[in-house]
Amino acid sequence: MHGFTDVDRQSDPYSWAAVLDRLAKEPFYQAYQQRVRELLHPAPGRRYLEVGAGTGASAVQLRDEHGVSVATVDYAQAMSIAMRARGLAQCAVADAHHLPFLSRSFDGAWADRSVQHLADPHAAIKEIIRVVRPGGRVVLADPHYDTQVLDIADQSLARRVLRFRADVLLRNGTLAHQHAGLLAAQGLVDITVEARTLVVRDPTAVDNVLGLRSWADTAAQHGWLDPAEARAFEDQFDEAVTAHRFTYAVTFFLTAATVGGDESTRQ
Ligand SMILES: C[S@@+](CC[C@H](N)C(=O)[O-])C[C@H]1O[C@@H](n2cnc3c(N)ncnc32)[C@H](O)[C@@H]1O
Repeated sequence: MHGFTDVDRQSDPYSWAAVLDRLAKEPFYQAYQQRVRELLHPAPGRRYLEVGAGTGASAVQLRDEHGVSVATVDYAQAMSIAMRARGLAQCAVADAHHLPFLSRSFDGAWADRSVQHLADPHAAIKEIIRVVRPGGRVVLADPHYDTQVLDIADQSLARRVLRFRADVLLRNGTLAHQHAGLLAAQGLVDITVEARTLVVRDPTAVDNVLGLRSWADTAAQHGWLDPAEARAFEDQFDEAVTAHRFTYAVTFFLTAATVGGDESTRQ
């Protein structure tokens, strides 16, 4: 199984938390995360769970904007510390594949850019559904890395680097279009799929939040590219910036559904 983006394997999980916080302030992320929260159908008094909650920025917004209670799960201790500092009280350090909650104990649950990292996304999605009551909501949001495009001079080289990002840097970088099917297979109803495309024209933002310029170097370190090709990628990246043509885009899928069954059986 490929994938080495897990926070516990990051050399500095606290700097990774800072990256997540910077992303949460980007207008694109704010807008799609607001839509994720709407799709949960929050109403005062309801109880929600975010799986792979990171630093908890969206969880806090859901709680404060809708008068709901929110629990979070993240397997990284660093994220739990960040969430508690933010005022979230119910932060479990746990694995998404084994949620430490009773079945049907939430009105809704969501995973935002977490499923892409999970070792067994099918099992984890079943586990997320397990903890939501009949009639409750499940929302999954992830980028789909097959949708990436990048304008540098050598499009073949760009594709190879983007392919590396899709297939190696993430465990499930190309699963988001199948979230609906996975939810349907579990009997969920009212399934909707929305797409939002992140378009990055500001290379400073790219380097700050995505580290895109470094992907070729990482690919070379893992034997996917020659070091000379990695340098060519960086040179062309810089040329695209200088020429004001720099453009990178990737599409996020927001998949929402309702857990089927009889609401009167809620525990
Ligand atoms: C890209 S971050 C997204 C964080 C947050 N949802 C947000 O929108 O900012 C993915 C998060 O998933 C967590 N994660 C990855 N694998 C996990 C697992 N198996 N169980 C629980 N959390 C996990 C990571 O620690 C990280 O905080």
